[in-house]
Amino acid sequence: MSAPLIELQEIEKHFGPVIALAGVSLSVMAGECHCLLGDNGAGKSTFIKTMSGVHKPSYGRILVDGKEVTFNDPRDAMAAGVATVYQDLAMIPLMSVTRNFWMGREPERRIGPIKVFDHKKAGAITVEEMAKMGIHLRSADQAVGTLSGGERQTVAISRAVYFGARVLILDEPTSALGVRQTANVLSTIDAVRKKGIGVVFITHNVRHALAVGDRFTVINHGKTLGTAKRGEINAEQLQDLMAGGRELVELESSLGGTV
Ligand SMILES: Nc1ncnc2c1ncn2[C@@H]1O[C@H](COP(=O)(O)OP(=O)(O)OP(=O)(O)O)[C@@H](O)[C@H]1O
Ligand SMILES: [Mg+2]
Repeated sequence: MSAPLIELQEIEKHFGPVIALAGVSLSVMAGECHCLLGDNGAGKSTFIKTMSGVHKPSYGRILVDGKEVTFNDPRDAMAAGVATVYQDLAMIPLMSVTRNFWMGREPERRIGPIKVFDHKKAGAITVEEMAKMGIHLRSADQAVGTLSGGERQTVAISRAVYFGARVLILDEPTSALGVRQTANVLSTIDAVRKKGIGVVFITHNVRHALAVGDRFTVINHGKTLGTAKRGEINAEQLQDLMAGGRELVELESSLGGTV
């Protein structure tokens, strides 16, 4: 079997006296959606920032294609094909879909000695890439701010894919969305996985995770509680692990039902 695209082993991250991560491990295979679940403060954001080169781990190893690497900054992670779509999406609402898609990487066209943004080419590619993810734009000139939340997620995802992501990290992409838009984003994740890209899907929502996940890693208080494959764990067990197990059982009995 080939090596994982990326593997993080026993990552620890200390911020002065605060231990945000105390031993988290996770690997991502090509074409797999690996869900990372954990309650508030569990360490999810700190972990993906380590994976994307924003934080350097205090201890632990990062391997890309089986070889140990050091990410000194996010550019190193991007060069290794690790792309992160953060919750705020880093988009400018008043700018067009095309401009947002190409931000910082504009294709140029020459008119005599002058280089200009090749708007036509950029727009056509944007529409085509979005269509591959199941979103059929009326116009790539419309402002990103006029798209739905799910469509905006898809712009960010298709942009990362187009620019060569091998591992795509999605930080809570469905947390602010309604049912239909969530379904759109989940099917986008499925389309990305089918291209052979490895997806790390961070979520609080057990049902969203179970809908697309191939493997599930639960972290609690900065530690991995375990990793399970699809079919090995159900919603109740995942929910229970996320809440740290015992705490949830106690809460359920005091509320007299299922949380
Ligand atoms: N820069 C920092 N300095 C000090 N402590 C930090 C820093 N970043 C994170 N922490 C601490 O690390 C712990 C984990 O935080 P993190 O943001 O990774 O959790 P999370 O799982 O993403 O939570 P949420 O679901 O609320 O986004 C928290 O206790 C947090 O206060
Ligand atoms: Mg977070």
